[in-house]
Amino acid sequence: MNEFSCSLHARPLTQSDRVADEVAKATAHVRIRDLHTWNFDADLRNLEEVYEASGLPVTVNFRTLVPLGSGVDRATHLFHSYPAKLLLNIPLFFINCTKYSSPNDVVYDPFSGSGTVLVEALMAGRRALGADANPLARLIATAKTTHISSDLISTALDTVLSNVDHNRQVPFTTAIKKDMWFSEEVALSLGALLYSIRSHTNGAVLAFMEACFSACVKRLSVSDPRLSVPVRLKGDALEKHVLNSPSVIDHFAKVVGANSARLAKMPEGCRSVIYTDARQRHSDGDVQADLIITSPPYAGAQKYIRASSLSIGWLGMAPSDRLRELEKLNIGREHFYKSDYSVESVSVVPSAQEVLSKIKSMNSLRSHIADTYLREMDDAAEAIISRLRQNGHLVLVVGDNMICGHNFPTSQFVKDIFNSKGLTTSLELVDDIRSRGLMTKRNKTAGTIEREHVIVFQKR
Ligand SMILES: C[S@@+](CC[C@H](N)C(=O)[O-])C[C@H]1O[C@@H](n2cnc3c(N)ncnc32)[C@H](O)[C@@H]1O
Repeated sequence: MNEFSCSLHARPLTQSDRVADEVAKATAHVRIRDLHTWNFDADLRNLEEVYEASGLPVTVNFRTLVPLGSGVDRATHLFHSYPAKLLLNIPLFFINCTKYSSPNDVVYDPFSGSGTVLVEALMAGRRALGADANPLARLIATAKTTHISSDLISTALDTVLSNVDHNRQVPFTTAIKKDMWFSEEVALSLGALLYSIRSHTNGAVLAFMEACFSACVKRLSVSDPRLSVPVRLKGDALEKHVLNSPSVIDHFAKVVGANSARLAKMPEGCRSVIYTDARQRHSDGDVQADLIITSPPYAGAQKYIRASSLSIGWLGMAPSDRLRELEKLNIGREHFYKSDYSVESVSVVPSAQEVLSKIKSMNSLRSHIADTYLREMDDAAEAIISRLRQNGHLVLVVGDNMICGHNFPTSQFVKDIFNSKGLTTSLELVDDIRSRGLMTKRNKTAGTIEREHVIVFQKR
């Protein structure tokens, strides 16, 4: 029986009873934990044999290798629509190969985003370690990987909702023009809701509620729901969107209910540790990872801070109210001052020099973005390797992109970086179907090439 369903309905319906109904209807199977045990040792051996025989990347389809069905609502993966999520089949596969990890091992994702790898690590009984430069990503990943009982969430929701008072507001930070994205009524309700969340919850419950609040913000704004970055709707589309907008409180209660049900599918007592930058080196006392699985950012292909800006504005996550300060920590960012890229530079990746020069002759900003990306990935690689134990494996999921009409083989350059620092390549796979969320396409001469390279390295 669903935990929520036991107390229904001798007293007047509260908001959390409504949530309970919602959850019971939508997810009758919610309390059933992931009973299926996965093991991909035989598949891995087959792939290794083909790779050893040919020395060439082996084509795979992770959707058939790990048959889950598309868009499956597994554990907390669908908690929030943070962009460019990794296909969960990929970490699920590697974590469940005994060659790469065993129960209680540490699995680390240095670019953990909203926590796909961390969730799968915990589901397989491993310990989860992450890093992300975006504070919103850290909040979401923390909420998705910290177990809280459904009862506690339900009680907290009742308290939060019964204390919403429009005269008590959390101010929106000046980093974002609030009026451009929210109607006055919606902004008032959001400000009051957030005030109540912050006044009546703390610790893990506060993180959970704030992550749910963030999951609602985009839907309640007047930005185009089909795009990851905020773009204001216009004309008929705007009118239709406003007409169909749910009330702030109802929408929040619904999201909390659905996410509470998802969290109930995570192992009891689970938690994770998430650092703030992939470039932080290992220091004495830090645990080392037995397995690293990560999908790093691309050069200029996804605007993580801009995509998160509405939530960052509400949650006050921009230092000195400036998004730019946060952006500076982001590898792959694309905002630079002209003075930054007027100086000549030699690439840290020798094999990239030729294409960088070609790009530079067309657009020196674009070549600076790509050059800085490789420099910062090189720095991150040192730190990532320092966190991997001897003989441990690193699984890198990376695609290629186009810059100014030139093929920019990010996967090859990043592979060169890790090989140059002593890691050996033990397996290379290619999945022809792009598995990450939509990348923002700049124009006809930019974008991503629709295949993922999965490269496995070992630290010897
Ligand atoms: C492709 S996404 C990872 C998505 C993640 N695998 C998931 O499924 O949600 C790349 C992530 O790298 C993060 N990032 C960019 N620069 C970083 C840095 N210096 N340290 C750590 N994370 C960084 C971005 O904020 C973004 O969340």
